[in-house]
Amino acid sequence: MDYISIKEAMKQGTGDVAVRGWVYRERGSSKIKFVVLRDSTNTIQCVLEKVVVGEEKFAVADKLQIEASISIIGTIKQDDRAPTGYEISVKDFDVIGESHGYPMQKDQSPEFLLDKRHLAIRSRKMSAIFKIRSRYVQAREQFFMEEGFYRFDSPILQPTQSEGGSTVFEVKYYDKKTYLAQTWQFYGEAAVQSLEKIYNFCPTFRAEKSKTSRHLSEFWMAEMEAAWFDLKSVSEFAKKELKYCIKAVVADCQEEFEFLQQDTAKLLEITGKDWPTIKYREALELIKEKDGIDVEFGKDLRTEEEKAIMQHFDTPVVITHYPVVAMGFYKPKDPENPDEALCFDMLAPGSGVEIVGGSQRSMDIEDMKERLEADGEDTESYEWYFDSRRFGGVPHAGYGVGTERVIMWICGLENIKDAIPFPRTMLRFKP
Ligand code: 4AD
Ligand code: MG
Repeated sequence: MDYISIKEAMKQGTGDVAVRGWVYRERGSSKIKFVVLRDSTNTIQCVLEKVVVGEEKFAVADKLQIEASISIIGTIKQDDRAPTGYEISVKDFDVIGESHGYPMQKDQSPEFLLDKRHLAIRSRKMSAIFKIRSRYVQAREQFFMEEGFYRFDSPILQPTQSEGGSTVFEVKYYDKKTYLAQTWQFYGEAAVQSLEKIYNFCPTFRAEKSKTSRHLSEFWMAEMEAAWFDLKSVSEFAKKELKYCIKAVVADCQEEFEFLQQDTAKLLEITGKDWPTIKYREALELIKEKDGIDVEFGKDLRTEEEKAIMQHFDTPVVITHYPVVAMGFYKPKDPENPDEALCFDMLAPGSGVEIVGGSQRSMDIEDMKERLEADGEDTESYEWYFDSRRFGGVPHAGYGVGTERVIMWICGLENIKDAIPFPRTMLRFKP
């Protein structure tokens, strides 16, 4: 008999089935044993009776512990008393891998769970999150294919910092020094002169020296860059991308969202609404007037301020025109208001966490050099980057989506660490 998944077995509903997986729960008496079996698709109650499997096998079944792996042949039937509505009466089974004293139990500390992350990822909560993450990433790939973009891959080892020297990881490179990518963007900018519309998805590194619930040292940034795009078109495109991906994930991950107690109707409703775009100055006025929070023009927004702004909206919001002084050297000055940059962030509703960051790109080599020098950078190392402007440079723009930030938002997670299988933070790089 061919093995099928628990989901397929439940769909079949009657007759004989062969399934395999891991012991999720077990209890029993001297004559009967109940095993809840789990595979990647679902869980199902299996009943092992001594009179059916025989004395010897029943003794084996009696010793089965949580997370042992087994294969089962039996008869499936609907049973409203069973946890997932079906039950298998086991005719025969084999133990594939034993498990003794599985260390994961209820109510263990978050630190313990992170130390045992390689086991914790088997939990139903974790697997629900990672299924949603997987579907989200696939949807994004589909979106860019449909929009006629090419996937373009860049090096992870890079010769310079790009998003601020204070968060760059240094790597020993033979007898020289190099850095881990803080962004794909600079290579993307060179490549739009060749492919025009590109995207990628790769690990990104930031030596974040703060222990917040929204920062990782290694995360997966989903970036795009497009020739001929400006601030307006690129920020509208970011809205389109996110709406597309969320719709796809909601359509295909109902069970997972349900398990996480997330309201998919609300998520879907959000994708049907217009997502506002406001200027940084307007956002400051809003929280000054409504919340009495006074922020001086010139600083990047802090967590409390982002949260305060987002209390006034029920969809993501794009905030544009941040102060030039607080922005990276490649974000151009708005010719109409040279203290404002042609850039944007998108904030998630509720938490106000920044999920997207992007901008139009500066074409002014002298201005970029000045701003790099002010940051103590050696502009010589950026000469290759300026070449994309020197030789037929065209206007272009792009952004990066923080994958884990989006997962955190749509899954309703308290901490970003649960949005990635093996989180790396200032205090953790194992297992
Ligand atoms: O705003 P950021 O720093 O923008 C860039 O790196 C641009 N070069 C992207 C581009 O224009 N191509 O990062 C983009 C997004 C943020 O909005 C946030 O969602 C996420 O990446 N992000 C992080 N996520 C988790 N942990 C961190 N330490 C993050 N830093 C940024
Ligand atoms: Mg940012």
